[in-house]
Amino acid sequence: MKVLSSESMPLRSSEDIVLVRQAVRKGAVALGFGLVDQTKIVTASSELARNTIDYGGGGTVELAVIENGFRKGFRLVFEDHGPGIENIERALTDGFTSGNGMGLGLGGAKRLSHEFEISSKLGEGTRDPS
Ligand SMILES: Nc1ncnc2c1ncn2[C@@H]1O[C@H](COP(=O)(O)OP(=O)(O)OP(=O)(O)O)[C@@H](O)[C@H]1O
Ligand SMILES: [Mg+2]
Repeated sequence: MKVLSSESMPLRSSEDIVLVRQAVRKGAVALGFGLVDQTKIVTASSELARNTIDYGGGGTVELAVIENGFRKGFRLVFEDHGPGIENIERALTDGFTSGNGMGLGLGGAKRLSHEFEISSKLGEGTRDPS
């Protein structure tokens, strides 16, 4: 897997989420994603960006264009150094929220992605590449 280009963006405020949504849309268009796939990745990025801010205390997202020899992809890695997720399976369960949300963001982002991983150590933050 080769990284063809990458950029990192801060996630501190709602304005940053708007900028990330715009950058993800632009990147997806440049990669030739159709409207449905553009919307899927923009929606997933919004949910993960919101979680990074609300639960992770802010962080970063790295947007990378990757290639595996056959085809290109768009990889998004959200990272924070907040409290971490105690139980990842539970966090992914639709309807589970520790805040005031609907508990649908993480599971939704996973379903909207072709590949999805989360790693988190309590006390060391959360990293979810989408
Ligand atoms: N970056 C993170 N750091 C710590 N905990 C997190 C992080 N992201 C998600 N979580 C935990 O996982 C739970 C589920 O996240 P999810 O996005 O599915 O739901 P929500 O944010 O609570 O509600 P919604 O996204 O539907 O508005 C959160 O309530 C929170 O406890
Ligand atoms: Mg959420």
